[in-house]
Parts: sequence; C-alpha cells; structure tokens
Amino acid sequence: MNGPTRNRVAVMHGVNLDMLGKRDPEHYGTMTLSELENQIRKWAKEFDLEPITYQSNSESGFIEFLHRLPDTADALVVNPGAWTHYSWAIRDAVEIAGLPTIEVHLSDVDEREQWRRVSVLEGLTVARVAGKGPEGYREALEELRAVLVS
Ligand code: DQA
Repeated sequence: MNGPTRNRVAVMHGVNLDMLGKRDPEHYGTMTLSELENQIRKWAKEFDLEPITYQSNSESGFIEFLHRLPDTADALVVNPGAWTHYSWAIRDAVEIAGLPTIEVHLSDVDEREQWRRVSVLEGLTVARVAGKGPEGYREALEELRAVLVS
C-alpha cells in the first residue's frame, strides 16, 4: 500500500497532560504521557505517518507551536486538556493553522461535568474522539491518514 505523500502529523497535548499516570485512573487510565506518546508513534508508523509530538502547560507556547504548524505538519491530532473548554485563543490558533484536525480526549467528556461538554474547537475539526482512552488516538490517526491520501 502506498503511503500518503503529505504524512506529517502533529500530536499535541495541552495543560496537565504531562501528569498522566498521576491523574484519576478512572478517567485517564494509568499510562504516562511518554508511554502514550510511544504508543502513538508506533501507531503512526503503522499508518505510514510521521509523528511530531508536543506537550505544554504554557498556553503561549502551545499557540506559538500551532502558528508554526503550516510549515512543519500536514495534519493535527490535538488534546488541549482543560483549554478545550475555554481557550478561544487556542481555537483561533487551530483555525489559523488550517490543517485537518481531530480532537481527542481520553475521558468521556460528554458524560462528566457540564462544563466539559463545551469545546472551543467545535465546527473546526474533522472529528472528535472521546472516552476511548489511548485507542482514541489510533482512531484519529487512521482517520487523518484517510484524509491525507484522498
Ligand atoms: C481531557 C478532558 C479535559 O476535560 C480535562 O481537563 C483534561 C483531559 C481528556 O483527555 O479526557 O485535562 O482532555
């Protein structure tokens, strides 16, 4: 099978996701961020995708990384953590980046507190995957691969 020619996928994690492994396992499982990123890199390779991983607790750093994305990536998987629910600045930066984007959440944000049901990315993304744990990233990569080959 031929891989996509545009195959660079940025996988971005936002605030507090560096604390995976220490957060409530009922919602977030037991994997650390580096274990999760290793798994994501393996899945990406299986789909002939070139992964670029990034995490920050700094909203400005996150936004500046998004600003550089058009030069460095062809698609985006993003889990902004709690920023998802209120950072309109991150929405604007994802819109400016203009890449096919999938939003992923480890936990089932629609079945938790009311405030977690809001996503600033609504209407900008190809899809949103939530509540499937690490597997959600595999799904997102598979879906973006299909977008990139089309
Ligand atoms: C999260 C869900 C958010 O509501 C929360 O603030 C997070 C993680 C998730 O992956 O389930 O930090 O994005």
